Amino acid sequence: MQTTSRIVRSAIAWLLLVVAAGPAGAAGSRHAVASAHPLATEAGEAVLAAGGNAFDAAVAVAATLAVVEPFASGFGGGGFFLLHRARDGSDVVVDAREIAPAAVSPALYTGADGKPDPRASLDGPRAAAIPGLAAGVAHLQREFGTMPLAELLAPAIRHAEEGFAADARFAAAAGWRQAVMAADAAASAAFLDSGKAPAAGFVVRQPALGRTLRAIARDGADAFYRGPIAAEMVRAVRARGGVWSEADLAGYRVAERHPARIEYRGAHITTVPLPSSGGIVLAEALHILEQFDYDGADAATRAHLVVEALRRAFQDRSRFLGDADLVDVPADRLRSQAYGRERAAGIDPLHATPSATLAPADPPRSGNHTTHFSIVDADGNRVAATLSVNGPFGAGMVAGESGVLLNNEMDDFAIAPGGNLYGLTGGAANAPAPGKRPLSSMSPTFVEDSRGVLVLGTPGGSRILSMVLLGILEHLHGERPDVARVVALPRFHHQYLPDRVEVEPGQFAAAWKAALQALGHEVQEGRRRWGNMQAIFVDGASGEATAAGDPRGRSGVLF
Ligand code: DON
Repeated sequence: MQTTSRIVRSAIAWLLLVVAAGPAGAAGSRHAVASAHPLATEAGEAVLAAGGNAFDAAVAVAATLAVVEPFASGFGGGGFFLLHRARDGSDVVVDAREIAPAAVSPALYTGADGKPDPRASLDGPRAAAIPGLAAGVAHLQREFGTMPLAELLAPAIRHAEEGFAADARFAAAAGWRQAVMAADAAASAAFLDSGKAPAAGFVVRQPALGRTLRAIARDGADAFYRGPIAAEMVRAVRARGGVWSEADLAGYRVAERHPARIEYRGAHITTVPLPSSGGIVLAEALHILEQFDYDGADAATRAHLVVEALRRAFQDRSRFLGDADLVDVPADRLRSQAYGRERAAGIDPLHATPSATLAPADPPRSGNHTTHFSIVDADGNRVAATLSVNGPFGAGMVAGESGVLLNNEMDDFAIAPGGNLYGLTGGAANAPAPGKRPLSSMSPTFVEDSRGVLVLGTPGGSRILSMVLLGILEHLHGERPDVARVVALPRFHHQYLPDRVEVEPGQFAAAWKAALQALGHEVQEGRRRWGNMQAIFVDGASGEATAAGDPRGRSGVLF
């Protein structure tokens, strides 16, 4: 248990580690790219300049991030791409979430003493689920793109082979995972400087990953999921006690899904359905908030309402949500306006509801690692993508000669009794099972109303959900669209358990905190700020695209 809370504390410290890169797109431009690394933004801009569409650019940006932000996302990880295609006005989610290997079993996460081993879902081969990114980018390029895969992967290959300078975020993340990576020869060779976390400026070269990317550029995703690269990944995983098989890799498929749609006060919100919890948690929270006079409320009352909405939505996340391809989830009910009304009825405007008193509530009838980028092109195509290897540098293990850093997304399943890296608990719906996708919080989102469309998303584990919710509320209730304000907004968070409101340090007035405490909330200042939101607003009248990167990203805050 002590280990778990240490992990959670450390995770929180990590979550606060943020830096970014800033958006690109000149004033008056109808296209824009906002990503967490300048080399990725540059790769996306180059594709748009060469006549590629937003989907082509997304492939280049995702592949470049996989190389230059390996602690955040990568070919050994996965994620979700939310797309809007201007040609037919369609929205689709490309679900490239990882899946559990067929041989997953509870014993993998139990120590020799028979007790849960919380490190097993975080470090090394048992932490890693079957990756989805290679299939995801190949699908994007084939189904939506216009340029050859080899051209789109070229910048990523160049940065892998020629190297790039580690930034402060890289150095801090590597410091965080130094011990785990030092125990893995391939991870150590790729990311450490003589066994130690490199300083900023150290040139990171990944020749093995470069070879794997060249193979994907030549032969498509099959080069990753079948043949010698797949065999090498399986060999490396099994050599260290993991259970991947070549059949697991050969069987990986992306899923195209209908996005989750939420109507909120005349705005249309489009986001990711299960296996991300985003669609349901955001719908429930917004439908609860709709029952109150948000515009007429003062800042502390607004925060109280948001916290109470999040408390209830996160309770349902932990009770009911999981991979709906494999388990029954009362999704329609949870995301209905009627359910929001029902949940809102239990909110006392003058008192916090202790989470413990919510536990037996009636079940409904019928539970800076990771990166986000947003892209719009001049034709009106849009991409919001949140991609991840889960924790910093994922499992801290590179799969041998493949050069592929493995994720630790198995920790997003409900495995450790004390909660996962983000303190999230869950139940049977999110228990690990063969071929199942772990429940995610990643929520790339579009918000459309008469003024235009906002494209947004952020990393941050469970806090993704509160960050995106606060971003939506600021955008829709603010005086006018102001994307820079949306990404910079001070943040607070509640996730049902632990029962406390976490707030960014130094951002909220003493009177605001006192007002929340007077309502019965425990308010806890975090040690650092969190998130790295990358957003674009496209003005409905002029078509002008304005991008904004999270100032937390640029500030280079380290823990
Ligand atoms: O899918 C999820 O919800 C997590 N694996 C996301 C992790 C994350 O955002 C880490 N970011 N700082």
